[in-house]
Amino acid sequence: MEKKRVYIRTFGCQMNAYDTGKMKALLSSDGYESTEDMAEADLVIVNTCSVREKPEHKLHSFLGEARRIKRERGRPMTLAVSGCVAQQEGQKLLDRYRDLDLVFGPDAVPSITRLVEGTKKGQVLDTTFLDAADYVFASELDPDAAGSIGAFVTIQKGCDNKCTFCIVPATRGPEVSRPSGQILDEVRQLVGQGVQEITLIGQNVNSYGLKVDGERTFAQLLYAVADVEGVERIRYTTSHPRDMGADVVQAYRDLPQLTSYLHLPVQSGSDRILRRMKRFYTRQRYLDLVDRLRDARPDIVLSTDFIVGFPGETDADFEDTMTLLDAVRFQSSYSFKYSQRPDTSALRLIDRGAAVPAAVAGARLTRLQARQRVIGEAENRSLEGTVLDVLVEGPSRHDEGVICGRTGTYKTINFPGSLALVGKTVPVMVTRGFANSLRGEMVPAFR
Ligand code: SAH
Ligand code: SF4
Ligand code: F3S
Repeated sequence: MEKKRVYIRTFGCQMNAYDTGKMKALLSSDGYESTEDMAEADLVIVNTCSVREKPEHKLHSFLGEARRIKRERGRPMTLAVSGCVAQQEGQKLLDRYRDLDLVFGPDAVPSITRLVEGTKKGQVLDTTFLDAADYVFASELDPDAAGSIGAFVTIQKGCDNKCTFCIVPATRGPEVSRPSGQILDEVRQLVGQGVQEITLIGQNVNSYGLKVDGERTFAQLLYAVADVEGVERIRYTTSHPRDMGADVVQAYRDLPQLTSYLHLPVQSGSDRILRRMKRFYTRQRYLDLVDRLRDARPDIVLSTDFIVGFPGETDADFEDTMTLLDAVRFQSSYSFKYSQRPDTSALRLIDRGAAVPAAVAGARLTRLQARQRVIGEAENRSLEGTVLDVLVEGPSRHDEGVICGRTGTYKTINFPGSLALVGKTVPVMVTRGFANSLRGEMVPAFR
């Protein structure tokens, strides 16, 4: 049988990265191997994100390029769009791009081989949402996971929240928890392939299992994953501050495998804006949660997401965000200008004239990011001279002879060393802290 090749371009969050891995696994059992060169691929898939306007635009420039390649080649090429824009736009994409063969949403990922087969007869669309009774989580392992230090494991799909700015519930459908037995099986298989660090993923991991009688809670799942022999580090994302219970905080006392790093998106420091976003926590509740986490795990490092220029955000609201930044001292934050998304309820605020002018939002974003850099760098400089355990991941992206790894607080550290150390945990002294990474030197006895 002639080898078929698939090229997948992935935009968006960890859910999309994970879905791409599953697609590769499913396609490989159908005779496809992955290629990095779109021009030699028989099947091209772009796995899209629509969380903001910018990532959505990337699809259209990508399709322009893919269409050109498809027309110039002598052989047939199947062109497919998956992910959140596919779910949202569906048939509209097929109408607009006649060269497109297949559009399918996140819930159709497990059916990929059947869908690709169907394109022989014409354009194919599958954007059906499946509920808990029908949805089956694919169990095939991402072929790229073998030999990796870390791997993602999905624990739920979709989201039942209704944050007013967010398109994800519309593109990913209702929340469905994956049976914990399946999650643990996947973790065991990954560890068997040499994986040491497991990242549990979902849009709202703290609500894991709550809708299913007899299922483990998220905290219980953490303990069960930690019990799997060979799991050295556990991370998870994304956590919603409203739903993070005392039992998860307790896990930071009990489980040494749980990484001292947590991404805890706050979005805004203003109660008025948090209410308008329907986040269901206050600034004070968020700060209390941070205190409880730091009590449980004193060295915990936090990162967060901010949206600036949400409809109705005043200068005073934004100052509340700036003071929150200083109160928590996040190691890093992902901050975005509010972006209007189709069919989200925040659009009603815009209709009522509450839009923040782009220039105002832009100036606020610049200020927030500058302050974040200062805090991030100061936090990292305060580590200079200390020795940290580092799990070595691979070569540094920038320098020959330099390797990089992660500290127990999930910070990137670069230091001179041999690639033979990949996968090992070694003590490294921090020699310099930057805003987003550390530089170090291995402690002599280990060189
Ligand atoms: N489930 C996660 C977030 C998923 S989206 C959570 O609840 O935190 C990732 C991030 O994108 C969000 O945290 C938010 O900061 C940002 N985001 C989502 N919608 C946005 C919009 N309309 N405009 C700007 N940023 C947005
Ligand atoms: Fe979007 Fe809110 Fe769900 Fe996160 S919790 S995916 S921000 S609706
Ligand atoms: Fe983007 Fe969809 Fe993830 S909108 S952020 S790829 S859930």
